[in-house]
Amino acid sequence: MAKEKILVIGASGQIGVELTLALRKIYGNANVVASDLREENELLRGSGPYVSLDVMNKEMLHVQVIRQNITQIYLLAAILSATGEKNPNLAWHLNMQGLLNVLDIAREEKLQKVFWPSSIAVFGPTSPRKDCPQRTIIEPITVYGISKYAGEFWCNYFYGRYGADVRSIRYPGLISYKSSPGGGTTDYAVEIFTEALENGHYTCFLQEDTYLPMMYMPDAIRATIELMEAPAAKITVRTSYNVSGLSFSPREISEEIKKHIPDFTIVYAPDYRQAIANSWPQSIDDSVARQDWGWRNEYDLSRMTADMLENLQEANNLPVR
Ligand code: NAD
Ligand code: SER
Repeated sequence: MAKEKILVIGASGQIGVELTLALRKIYGNANVVASDLREENELLRGSGPYVSLDVMNKEMLHVQVIRQNITQIYLLAAILSATGEKNPNLAWHLNMQGLLNVLDIAREEKLQKVFWPSSIAVFGPTSPRKDCPQRTIIEPITVYGISKYAGEFWCNYFYGRYGADVRSIRYPGLISYKSSPGGGTTDYAVEIFTEALENGHYTCFLQEDTYLPMMYMPDAIRATIELMEAPAAKITVRTSYNVSGLSFSPREISEEIKKHIPDFTIVYAPDYRQAIANSWPQSIDDSVARQDWGWRNEYDLSRMTADMLENLQEANNLPVR
């Protein structure tokens, strides 16, 4: 394998922490540089290099890429769906300009590869609700979804025009216990676990029957690395791949949690995030990713729930309820 030096931008976030640690296992601690606008996440401390970096500052980013001999970038810095609706201008600016800065530098420095995640938020109310296909009607209603769809076509453009090897996945809502989620509509499916363990009760901001596409973080990290390691000839989609894991509703996940915490209770108080959730599909067809680079998800709802509860209990030193 050619010697790689990887820069992860947004490394202190929900995906960044786990992806950085996984990449360090493969490429060696010194060869994966973590970076973020905020301080280094405590789980990353001491495990490899960290630089403070604003992806909006193109010159600073360019200097780091040259100084550190970077060959690959994983760009994770973004504003997610719920926070984006509170500040649409900021979300558009960061999500678009951050990506364009990275793509320009990748082209100028002839980087080997770039990873940039899209989202199921590209889909809108006119997309099929069930088993939403790779190629379909796409009319997003959130600024986040619009920025992701535009971003997909910038990736495709840089590949077609400049040969930049940019790869992308439309992540579903991600569930994890190491680093907290950063302001998405699917965050309820993480909060429900911490609240169940700490208080035995959760007030859910979505209705009980709101089905959404979700995925447990170990599957998402594996999908990312498998896509990035696949031979370029196998990548037929240069916008972004659908990948599927789970599809469940707040009621279904609460019933699964009750199997472990029988006195757990849940009430529903839908807020502005309900309209966002209603605009997204309930499940995703990922047959193109399966065919192209062999994607297979591993976790189902019951295995994920057991693993989340066990790890959160351990990490936070909580009593077994
Ligand atoms: P997050 O909010 O947890 O992390 C993003 C990180 O980027 C944060 O640590 C933040 O400090 C950093 N950041 C923000 N502005 C920055 C800047 N100007 N320069 C450098 N760093 C900056 O988000 P996440 O959940 O880890 O998501 C990562 C990527 O995956 C995003 O593109 C997101 O849209 C996408 N995604 C996430 C999910 C999910 O469920 N978590 C689902 C679909 C897509
Ligand atoms: N989890 C993300 C969100 O809810 C989906 O991209 O914003």
